[in-house]
Amino acid sequence: MASKVFVTHQLPGERIRELAQQCEMNVWMGPGLLPPAGLRTELAGCQGLVCLLTDRIDSSVLDAAPDLQFVSSMSVGVDHIDVAALTERGIAIGHTPGVLVETTADTAFALLLAAGRRIAEADRFVRRGEWGPDNTWAPEFFTGVDVGGATLGIIGLGEIGQAVARRAAGFGMEVLAWNRSPRQVSGIEMLGLDELLERSDFVSIHVALTPQTRDLLNADNIALMKPGAVVVNTARGGIVNEQALADALIDGRLLAAGVDVFEREPVPADNPLLGLPNVVVTPHIGSATLRTRARMADIAVANALAALRGEAMPCCVNPAVYG
Ligand code: DGY
Repeated sequence: MASKVFVTHQLPGERIRELAQQCEMNVWMGPGLLPPAGLRTELAGCQGLVCLLTDRIDSSVLDAAPDLQFVSSMSVGVDHIDVAALTERGIAIGHTPGVLVETTADTAFALLLAAGRRIAEADRFVRRGEWGPDNTWAPEFFTGVDVGGATLGIIGLGEIGQAVARRAAGFGMEVLAWNRSPRQVSGIEMLGLDELLERSDFVSIHVALTPQTRDLLNADNIALMKPGAVVVNTARGGIVNEQALADALIDGRLLAAGVDVFEREPVPADNPLLGLPNVVVTPHIGSATLRTRARMADIAVANALAALRGEAMPCCVNPAVYG
């Protein structure tokens, strides 16, 4: 009898058809995201799950899916999955590293430029019809800070952090970095987190969200940051304490921020960052290009196909399950 696999969203890419040929595949067709209770119902009797980062996979889901053998997420981050609980039950977890590196680095750099040069604020100003004879070109009109030649502090020097550093080199920036484990990359000065914050004009976050990185940037160490610095987060909400960041932006200690990811997504209207003109916000679009999303989907499917064949997933988060 064919294995049953549930897919929580219609996926792009070339390989989803192969999956349909290799198993009994059911796909949530919407509208919108599948609610948690629906996921539990759909998973009954399934051996496999292909999901997105919007699906929370925890013990309550596992309890409803006693036959589950693998979960393949179309994301590199797996903070939406209780990795320990799945590993304990021998359930393999797949993810999609690598293919989104350059795309996400582009987004980080776009936010860095937009925040430092007040691009979104200026766009709103023009569209609202506020650009008039009494409010026009003048020496201090819409002045921001220079990106070229500034110092960039990268928090997390993995593949995406290094891709951001390559872009920064093109802008003649001095690049500093902090990483949880020792790492040496040519042209990048490695520092402790506090010193990085003290010296950086721009700080860009590129660590995964784990219990160790939750609130990594908080009121205490934001206070160490260079006055007028800019913070960019394309990693995960929860790594930067949103209230502490908002407080520093309101009282003018920090100049601006570019934020693609939030503690709660979709972000609630009362999030303290949303009302601030000096924050550029985007809705978790770090990897959002057609090509990258298709590649992510194809890797997610490749992980699922390997699992169906009884093989190790090519991109497995918890290889311990293979013994
Ligand atoms: C991921 O895959 O974890 C990214 O956040 C998607 O943009």
